Amino acid sequence: MAMQIIRSVSDLEAFVGKTLGNGKTIGLVPTMGALHEGHLSLVKRAVAENDVALVSVFVNPTQFNNPVDLATYPRNEEEDFRLLAGEGVTAVFAPTVEEMYPEGTERDHEFDLGTAAEVMEGKFRPGHFQGVAQVVSRLFRLCRPTRAYFGEKDFQQIAVIRNMVDSEHIDVEIVPVPIKRADDGLALSSRNALLTEEQRKVAPEIHAALAYSVEYSKSHSVKATHDTVVERIDAVPHMNVEYFEIVDGRTLLPIDEWEESPDIVGCITVYCGKVRLIDNIRYK
Ligand code: PAJ
Repeated sequence: MAMQIIRSVSDLEAFVGKTLGNGKTIGLVPTMGALHEGHLSLVKRAVAENDVALVSVFVNPTQFNNPVDLATYPRNEEEDFRLLAGEGVTAVFAPTVEEMYPEGTERDHEFDLGTAAEVMEGKFRPGHFQGVAQVVSRLFRLCRPTRAYFGEKDFQQIAVIRNMVDSEHIDVEIVPVPIKRADDGLALSSRNALLTEEQRKVAPEIHAALAYSVEYSKSHSVKATHDTVVERIDAVPHMNVEYFEIVDGRTLLPIDEWEESPDIVGCITVYCGKVRLIDNIRYK
């Protein structure tokens, strides 16, 4: 069957009502478009694990704290729809900003996102996670998914969405999906399209440094491991580490000793020229 393209909230509600009325499960994949194989790995899971796969394509203005970032965010709707149809997606929801926020983009309440939202991305992108919670909670209320799929590339985002689902009492299973990488190790990202040829050549150093640090961590302290990653990446032309934090994978709060937690992840953000790239690696 041809993929349905839904533009309005009322058409979406009709689609969801009919699907749930027929006793079918809905797998939702929220995206901001400019789709690549990373997004498609979530889409493939949603198609395989649910009766109906629903993908949203919406560049959410309320999660951008930098107007230039919003203005330059890559958009490619025709190609996105072509890729999604090829994966066997049932319907795509691609609303305008006015359709998504009929009462304006101002938030009517602060979401309780826990301490996980205050560190790292929460610190460097003030308001970002409130904007993510605003759009994702609205998508959940409209799409009423059985399962919703999120990539581990945005490791902190998953923790924050879990907290949002708890505090808003939304009944949905959050499914985390592993990071998809290019052959040279660079985590796939819509923002990679903004890299110059020269920047794209050095960008794989992020994952290379993180992967090396897993070995290094076996005989070094948390602090030494942290510093070796930052020094190696900062030494690369064009690259500047914004933050690198080694954190408890559940609370996202920094740890000082490897013994402190059974679940430890290193989260990094690097400016490659003006392009902000994010990645992470698991230590335990
Ligand atoms: P976006 O950056 O478009 O990402 C959509 C989903 O794809 C997110 O869950 C993200 O983690 C996942 N993803 C991106 N690159 C990936 C990769 N290389 N491997 C695996 N998964 C990857 O994240 C957002 O949009 C927005 O914040 C959104 C949740 C849609 C709310 O607006």
